[in-house]
Amino acid sequence: MKLSVIGCGYLGAVHAAAMASIGHEVVGIDVDERKIASLSAGEAPFFEPGLQQILADGLASGRLRFTTDMAHAAGSAVHFVGVGTPQQKDGYAADLTYVNAAVDALVPYLSAGDVVAGKSTVPVGTAATLTGRVEATGATLVWNPEFLREGFAVQDTIDPDRLVAGVPTGADGERAADILRAVYHPSVTKGTPFIVTDLATAELVKVAANAFLATKISFINAMAEIAEVTGADVTTLADAIGHDARIGRRFLGAGIGFGGGCLPKDIRAFSARAEELGRGESVAFLREVDAINLRRRDRAVDLTVQAFGGSVFKKNVTVLGAAFKPHSDDIRDSPALDVAVRLHGLGAWVTITDPEAIDNARRIHPQLNYVDDRDEALRGADAVIVVTEWDEYRRHLTPEHAATLTNGRVIIDGRNCLDATAWRNAGWDYYGMGRP
Ligand code: UDX
Repeated sequence: MKLSVIGCGYLGAVHAAAMASIGHEVVGIDVDERKIASLSAGEAPFFEPGLQQILADGLASGRLRFTTDMAHAAGSAVHFVGVGTPQQKDGYAADLTYVNAAVDALVPYLSAGDVVAGKSTVPVGTAATLTGRVEATGATLVWNPEFLREGFAVQDTIDPDRLVAGVPTGADGERAADILRAVYHPSVTKGTPFIVTDLATAELVKVAANAFLATKISFINAMAEIAEVTGADVTTLADAIGHDARIGRRFLGAGIGFGGGCLPKDIRAFSARAEELGRGESVAFLREVDAINLRRRDRAVDLTVQAFGGSVFKKNVTVLGAAFKPHSDDIRDSPALDVAVRLHGLGAWVTITDPEAIDNARRIHPQLNYVDDRDEALRGADAVIVVTEWDEYRRHLTPEHAATLTNGRVIIDGRNCLDATAWRNAGWDYYGMGRP
C-alpha cells in the first residue's frame, strides 16, 4: 500500500522505515531539511537500535524515500501524522502548532477516500477539531495512537502489543478501520489485539496509558521516600509487591524518576486538558505524580552533597549517564542531565559520560565536562553517581575496577541498579534511592 508519514522525528522516522520493512511503499515528509537529508542518505538522525538497518533496507528496496515536499503525499492511501506535541512554553498544555500545520499543509494533496491517521499524542478532543478540514476533501480522519518506547521503537512498531483505531461512526469509519487492518496486516494476522473505537477514546487511550505508567513510577518513588525515613528497602518492597500478578514488577523501578519526551509533558497536558473540560479534580493526582517525580532529582543531589559532609564545592563528581534512559540518546527532560547540571551549579567539578547522548547533552549544557570513555571519566573522581542504567555501568563496571580509577570510594546509585553488597564489600560507601 502507498503510505505517507508526516513528521520524521522519533515517532515518524521509525514508523516510515518500519512500514517499508513490512512491504509498504512509504514517503516520509518533514519540514526539517537536515533531517530529510540525513534520512535520505540512510543515516538515522538519532540513536535507536535497529533503525539504521531497516532504514538502509527500505532505501535500498526503493520502497522508502524522504522529502520536504508535501506534494509527494498525493496518491498515498493512508497519511500518518506523527509530528511533535511539546509542552507549551508558557503553560502545561500541549502545543498543537505542528499538528495543525501538518494537517493544513496536507489537505491540498488529499483525495476522496484517503485516510488521515493521527499518531501524535494529543489532548482528547483534538481530532474533532481537525475532522472538518479533512472531511472537506472527501478523506477520513482517524486516530491511531503510537505506544512505542524509545530504545525499543523498531520492535514496538513492527510488533506492537495492541493496535488502536479511533474512527468516526458510519461506513467511512468502518472502511478506514479496514484500511488500517490492511496496513498492519502482519500484526493483525498474528492476532495482535486490534481495538476499534471512537476518536475521543483512541486519543484518551494514549494519555491514559502514559498517565498510568507515570503514576506507577511515582508510586514506588513515594514508597522510596517512606523507606528513607524508616530504614526499609524499596527494592525488596517492589520485588515483594510485584509478585502479585495484579500489580506486576515492571515500572516499579525506584530511582531519580521519569523523564523523556513523553511521560512528563503528557501528564501535564492531561491535567491542563482535564481542567479545560471542567474535570481538573479527576486527574489532580497527576500534579502529585509530577511533584514526587521531581523530588527524586533533589534527593539524588542531596545524597551526593551529604556524602561529602555538606558541600560538593570543588569536588570531582563523575556522572554516569546523560540520556533519560538506556538505549537512547534522548536528553529531553532527562533526570540524569538535570542532576548533573544541579551538581555543577553547586560548585562540583562535574565530568559526565554516556555511550550515546554526549553530543546532544553538550549542545544544551556546554558548561559540563564531557568524556567519551567511561574509564577516562572515572579517573580521579571523588564520587561517582549512576543516573542512567546503561549496561556499561550496571553490569560491566565492577567496584574493584572502578576503585583502580577513582580517587574517592563514594558511589550514589540513582537508579538502584547496582549490587549494593558487592560495592560495600569492595570498600565503597554506597548510597541508593530508598535503600538503607
Ligand atoms: C513512554 C511509554 O512507555 C511509551 O509507551 C510511550 O509511547 C512513550 O512514552 P519512553 O518515553 O520511551 O516511553 O520511556 P519509558 O520506557 O516509558 O521510560 C520513561 C522514563 O521512566 C525513563 O526516564 C525511565 O528511566 C523511567 N522509569 C521507567 C523509571 O524511573 N522507573 C521504571 O521502573 C521505569
